[in-house]
Amino acid sequence: MVVLDPAVQAQFSAGPGYLNTATVGLPPKMAVEDLRQSVAEWEAGQLDPASFDKAVERSVSAFARIVRTQSTSVGIVGQVSIVSGLVASCLPDGARVLCAEEDFTSVLFPFLADPRLDVRLVPLDRILDSIGADTDLVAVSAVQSADGRVLDLDRLADIAAETNTRTYVDITQAAGWLPLDVDRFDVTACAAYKWLCAARGSGFLTVSPSADWLVPKYAGWYSGEDPWQSIYGPPLDRKSTRLNSSHTDISRMPSSA
Ligand SMILES: Cc1ncc(COP(=O)(O)O)c(C=O)c1O
Repeated sequence: MVVLDPAVQAQFSAGPGYLNTATVGLPPKMAVEDLRQSVAEWEAGQLDPASFDKAVERSVSAFARIVRTQSTSVGIVGQVSIVSGLVASCLPDGARVLCAEEDFTSVLFPFLADPRLDVRLVPLDRILDSIGADTDLVAVSAVQSADGRVLDLDRLADIAAETNTRTYVDITQAAGWLPLDVDRFDVTACAAYKWLCAARGSGFLTVSPSADWLVPKYAGWYSGEDPWQSIYGPPLDRKSTRLNSSHTDISRMPSSA
């Protein structure tokens, strides 16, 4: 049994026995206090939007540490399905996409919704053996939302490397408790409101340097080199490290994208 440090335990107000983190994680007291303060400042007309930058940078580097990558490979997003849609949209016409038929719909729907793609659904326990030289992308959750089944991620990375298959892994139900090496996959996406104890509407993506096929199509103003100074007009600096993280609209993309 894992025993939490008492200082960590003291950050959580709910009594023992909360078992629903796979649906909604609990917020630590320090996050609740920050949120309350922001709502109060907003209500009083005293909100300073730029004051959130530090929290963005801090959470991006904390996430990078948890999933073992560089901050420059991490972007911020509001929803996993947006990342799935971005990945789907960057595949060539007719690309063969392999998914697990029982996977969470934010991983499946954006691929199924794209009539250009040839999506093949197989049971999760057959997905790794179904990857072949004719697979263009495998899109799958590291841990299944419905029942907690854990995919053999090392094997996925090895097979994908052998067959030269692109990989997109949803790490929502894994990040925070399962050791991960996200750089072994082209793109990962994570909703942070579960095991990472964040508020709904916060999440991350990672893009490995090998994923040169991913285009930062949803880059928004926060992708600018100096977001508060480069709000209007071109250029979009594809080499900028600020293209390195994003918002709901994927306004900050990883520099590797
Ligand atoms: C595996 C997985 N991915 C993603 C999500 C959330 O998806 P979205 O951010 O698109 O709402 C969930 C929520 O239950 C999930 O279990």
